[in-house]
Amino acid sequence: MSAQIKDISTKPFDGQKPGTSGLRKRVKVFQQEHYTENFVQAIFDSIDPKGQTFVIGGDGRYFSPEAVQTILKIGSANGVGKLIIGKDGILSTPAASNVIRKYKAYGGILLTASHNPGGPNNDFGIKYNVSNGGPAPENVTDKIFQRTKEIKSYKVLELEPVDLSKIGTSKYGPTDVEIIDSVSDYVELLEGIFDFTLIKNFLQSTPDFRVLFDGLHGVTGPYAKAILVDTLGLPSAAIQNCVPLPDFGGGHPDPNLTYAHTLVEAVEKNNIQFGAASDGDGDRNMIYGKGAFVTPSDSVAIIADWAECIPYFQSGIKGLARSMPTSAAIDYVAKKKGLEYFEVPTGWKFFGNLMDAGRLSICGEESFGTGSDHIREKDGIWAVIAWLNILAAANKKSPNKVIGINEILLDHYEKYGRSFFSRYDYEDVSSDAAMKMVDALNAHIAKGSLIGEKFTASTKETFTVSETTNFNYTDPIDKSVSKNQGQIVRFADGSRVVFRLSGTGSQGATVRMYVEKYTTDKAQYGQDTAEGLKGLIEIALTISKLKEFLKVEKPTVIT
Ligand code: G6P
Ligand code: ZN
Repeated sequence: MSAQIKDISTKPFDGQKPGTSGLRKRVKVFQQEHYTENFVQAIFDSIDPKGQTFVIGGDGRYFSPEAVQTILKIGSANGVGKLIIGKDGILSTPAASNVIRKYKAYGGILLTASHNPGGPNNDFGIKYNVSNGGPAPENVTDKIFQRTKEIKSYKVLELEPVDLSKIGTSKYGPTDVEIIDSVSDYVELLEGIFDFTLIKNFLQSTPDFRVLFDGLHGVTGPYAKAILVDTLGLPSAAIQNCVPLPDFGGGHPDPNLTYAHTLVEAVEKNNIQFGAASDGDGDRNMIYGKGAFVTPSDSVAIIADWAECIPYFQSGIKGLARSMPTSAAIDYVAKKKGLEYFEVPTGWKFFGNLMDAGRLSICGEESFGTGSDHIREKDGIWAVIAWLNILAAANKKSPNKVIGINEILLDHYEKYGRSFFSRYDYEDVSSDAAMKMVDALNAHIAKGSLIGEKFTASTKETFTVSETTNFNYTDPIDKSVSKNQGQIVRFADGSRVVFRLSGTGSQGATVRMYVEKYTTDKAQYGQDTAEGLKGLIEIALTISKLKEFLKVEKPTVIT
């Protein structure tokens, strides 16, 4: 224990700017000498860590164990009071948010690149969360970035590595270390939110209503097992790919129709009524039953509409919100219920201020994020259990007919109309070409040159441009301004297309095109999304000249 704090000299690395959700790069980049150390020191330099408690966890991806030990060495040398670490360095992102809040930590360092593939040739990530349990706001990440540009040395205390597999308390130099069970606090949290008895009764009395959860070999496996199997009594066949692996079994742990194909195939083949998946770090979700895909935009609207059946919301809903590219489905629910609602830029951190101010209860994003103010991150398993709670409540009201996902969806459309929604992703395109496309759209917006123009698609539908804008946001609580959050083209019939550059990629650029069309024509409620949006998608491609700029024919992913 006589080790001395050492100052190791270093030089800044370019590009350590945290993106939408922390610093994400190839593992090989993080493995460079001093790279990870610089960033960790920059975090501690940007806050006042002395004597404070921090939570460490992550999705267990490749390079996590090494990164935890690095944080121990640097944290302890910087005077951190206590580190609460998930067993084996594992805490899903929502579980970490909960632990930060529950134990009143000063902040947390999450080792994850979310849904990006893992393994020696893929991605790693480091994300800093603040005391409300949510991602650090821009003023903090800007400070971290600034420090990475001027760093000359970092501090370490070199002691024996801590055994991360042993639950209990120990010391690392002056720092208290507590290794905690990764799952139990989270299970307790959800038990306090949902009606587990109602759900269990429904599942046990309706054995034909089969459930399948796919962990995509991400972090949620043990959480899903603890809740779905051990608590709700489902058979072990109700979970698959639930052993977390450092490389996610070579897959892309993102719950969407393309990457969660193991779920989609199993649901279709085995006629499963309720399927769901979550991403690498457990904050995203997809709800997918036999022949029934729930778009994330519809999912959050439906959860908001049914919220009264969830005990946590029985004392009232404070407000609703969505990110700008997300469809307006939740807005209709808010209007009907007379609730305040918000449209924020992409990124979960924008919801945090509204929640902290007591103005937001339920929110979601088209990017498969759904959640509430129970924590300050989106929450994949929460969304899955919310759906099971809703289905259990709906079935209680309908003793003679089993209500499934499709019935809930159709019912919702009958009540509120339907917002067709789809997103086209063009991954790893040239940043230069993407910028040119955005510049061209901005030029149209500045001049108003598209307004009034009519575009007719091969479906014979005509869309007339009514408004073009570049989305800027002023936070209603702290008044901070976020500019250039996406180009929006609105049409006279209420349809809209949005273009946005992804903020989470690790190389090249990713262009996202979001397409939304609202209808109250009942004949379209059962229609396929791709069919419903065919004409509008053509027009979106024409207006943006996307294929010409990016030199690609087809999107990499359609959700
Ligand atoms: C992360 C954030 C989400 C956000 C998403 C956007 O998952 O937690 O809140 O919606 O990134 O990703 P993008 O690649 O579109 O910037
Ligand atoms: Zn994630």
